[in-house]
Amino acid sequence: MGILSGKKGLIFGALDERSLAWHVALACASAGAEVVLTNTSSAIALGTIGVLAKEHDMLLVPCDATKLDDLRALFARAQEHVGGKIDFVLHGVAQSMNIRRHKRYEEANYNYFQQTLDVSALSLHKILRTALELDAISEYGSVVALSYLGSERYCDGYNDMGDAKALLESIARQFGAIYGAHNKTRVNIVSQSPTPTKAGGSWGGLDYWYRYTDQLSPLGNASADDCAQLCVALFSDLMRSVTMQTIYSDGGFGRTVLARGARL
Ligand SMILES: NC(=O)c1ccc[n+]([C@@H]2O[C@H](COP(=O)([O-])OP(=O)(O)OC[C@H]3O[C@@H](n4cnc5c(N)ncnc54)[C@H](O)[C@@H]3O)[C@@H](O)[C@H]2O)c1
Repeated sequence: MGILSGKKGLIFGALDERSLAWHVALACASAGAEVVLTNTSSAIALGTIGVLAKEHDMLLVPCDATKLDDLRALFARAQEHVGGKIDFVLHGVAQSMNIRRHKRYEEANYNYFQQTLDVSALSLHKILRTALELDAISEYGSVVALSYLGSERYCDGYNDMGDAKALLESIARQFGAIYGAHNKTRVNIVSQSPTPTKAGGSWGGLDYWYRYTDQLSPLGNASADDCAQLCVALFSDLMRSVTMQTIYSDGGFGRTVLARGARL
């Protein structure tokens, strides 16, 4: 019996074995949950999420998280499959074409900028709005969206993703209030250390930044598995009164200005 025994979860954003959402899906399954996976059709075709679904007997449903029709169909299919409401949702969705195409912030392509906001932030609004309209999340449910410290501090090269993460965190707080009043569902943010993934790797400075934050953080960088275990805790009944929070899975980086033992 794991701490998520009997719970049913919907996980957005597993692309390949490096994805944070992949680690979360496996950790949730190990903790006893039934997991439904989703990603875009192109990510399913290009990534290895199909292997994860097959090996662990998880339903995989294609869905573009920016499209309301896709989301309605996804929640209907997921609920039909698990035979009831969804207990927890992970949002691990992000993409910036400005970063991918090496556009500097001050030279942003505004079509890309709007896509960044739509994919990386408004998708959370659309998911939670759809689930509310369908009353698809159970009482005392739990929603977690993954973010990064670049939402609240300048981080060179993080570009329009910093704006998207600020919006994502605000949307989580707004819906935390709405869902709390609706049925006690919690909505929280996990702000994760730099982690080598496809989305993380598209940000040119990741190697340097990864080493820098690893050295500065008292505990070192949080790994993808650390992130996953925190998500499991937030999905569980052990954290039923925690909502509208940003919780840092960052080894203490965000609270440190000079590492112990640093040479001046
Ligand atoms: N890697 C890091 O350093 C890091 C640090 C903090 C937070 N995060 C956040 O973690 C989350 C997961 O990213 P990751 O690092 O695991 O990278 P990843 O590339 O493995 O995951 C991003 C996912 O978003 C999906 N996606 C893109 N557009 C979509 C759409 N329209 N609909 C549905 N899914 C879509 C992709 O297919 C992919 O699976 C993101 O929100 C990211 O910003 C990452």
